[in-house]
Amino acid sequence: MSIAHPNESEGNRLRAELDALLGRGQNTYTPTQVVVDRASGCRLWTIDGRRLIDFASGVLVANLGHGHPGFEARFEAYRKGLPHNAYNLTTRPLVEASRRLIASFATAKAQKLLWAASGSEGIQKAMWCALHRWPERPIMLATRGGFHGKKGLAGDVTGEQSPNPNVRLVSFPLDNELSPADVERELAAIDAEFPDRVALFITEPYLGAKGSYHPPKWYHKLVQHWCEARDVAFIFDEVQSCHGRTGNLYAFQSYEVEPDLVVLGKGLANGVPAAAVVGRADLIDTLDYGEASDTYSANPDTCAAVCAVLDVFAEERIVDHCRAMAPIMAQRLRGLMDRFPFVRAVRGEGLVYGVEISDADTANRCVLEAYCGDGTAGVHFLGPLAQKVLRVSPPLVITEPELDEAFALLEAAWARI
Ligand SMILES: Cc1ncc(COP(=O)(O)O)c(C=O)c1O
Repeated sequence: MSIAHPNESEGNRLRAELDALLGRGQNTYTPTQVVVDRASGCRLWTIDGRRLIDFASGVLVANLGHGHPGFEARFEAYRKGLPHNAYNLTTRPLVEASRRLIASFATAKAQKLLWAASGSEGIQKAMWCALHRWPERPIMLATRGGFHGKKGLAGDVTGEQSPNPNVRLVSFPLDNELSPADVERELAAIDAEFPDRVALFITEPYLGAKGSYHPPKWYHKLVQHWCEARDVAFIFDEVQSCHGRTGNLYAFQSYEVEPDLVVLGKGLANGVPAAAVVGRADLIDTLDYGEASDTYSANPDTCAAVCAVLDVFAEERIVDHCRAMAPIMAQRLRGLMDRFPFVRAVRGEGLVYGVEISDADTANRCVLEAYCGDGTAGVHFLGPLAQKVLRVSPPLVITEPELDEAFALLEAAWARI
């Protein structure tokens, strides 16, 4: 049975038709299943004419918002005349996107890159680099509860346990319950069990899918230090955090570390499918001709979008704007916690937050009531993470009046719960 909402004849018709056509596994569960007709800036319009403020940005992808005029114009200009696919061909946007992406890191370790067509493919390529660099070291470390994607090796390092016997999971400080000494102890045990056998340590700046857990700075510094002392590849998964989310262009800047390989995705191309691994040349160059090639990586559309995103970030000072909006967003979310007893915690930074709700049913109800809003306008959330955590991640271009409007809608909508 597809989801149906009152007064949504066209939306209900399209949802029902799709339900009969589409495999269920395609989507994650969201109680609204919005049928979108058009989008502009931070707003979506449903097919039945309702207006929503977008608190999801796709899934943290449309960092510049929808249909951003500067982005769209530049995107078209960079790709003008080029084929959509340029397998094994060199194009100007490919050279420019590669050069500018590496330069945007401004770190000594950002030397070369590999492109990918999705975040999880980028993760796999980064892991392959480390495994090829040290074929005699099969062990891969990852933080417990992380999310790196569902495919292949990316899936092996995702979640609370791994089906891959070469993967070992290390604790991540969730609510500051873990001390540096605890993590050092775990890593010392790994040293003892696998001397000179570890190729890589992969982690995320913050655990998003687990429910938005943002660690103290010591954690990543400690991991980096441990990796450096053993020449273990420190891989930072910035598929979600890249391009401004945490209030810096990259989260490794927010956490003051310099990883060996950084994987980018989502916001990298503002919605055009793109991912990349940027880092140490000695790691990247371990893959020979064809070992990281695929049909769609680094196509002209991708590279044009990457260049256009970098242009707009520079011209419109998107990161500064995100930093200016961050305290306002944090304060408004804490206001919800004061007002509604079912809002149990707010965690986040920049413009990425998790709002923990008392239980899964109430969390789904929050999503649904936000969508219904005042009947004409509402707020769009994805389905809860980790059962009961609402992800708040609007486009980084959201303005204070738009936040005012969104929170007025939310306060009225959640008062019905
Ligand atoms: C931190 C992180 N890593 C990896 C991925 C996987 O990216 P993709 O879905 O593009 O394969 C995601 C996707 O949500 C992510 O959030």
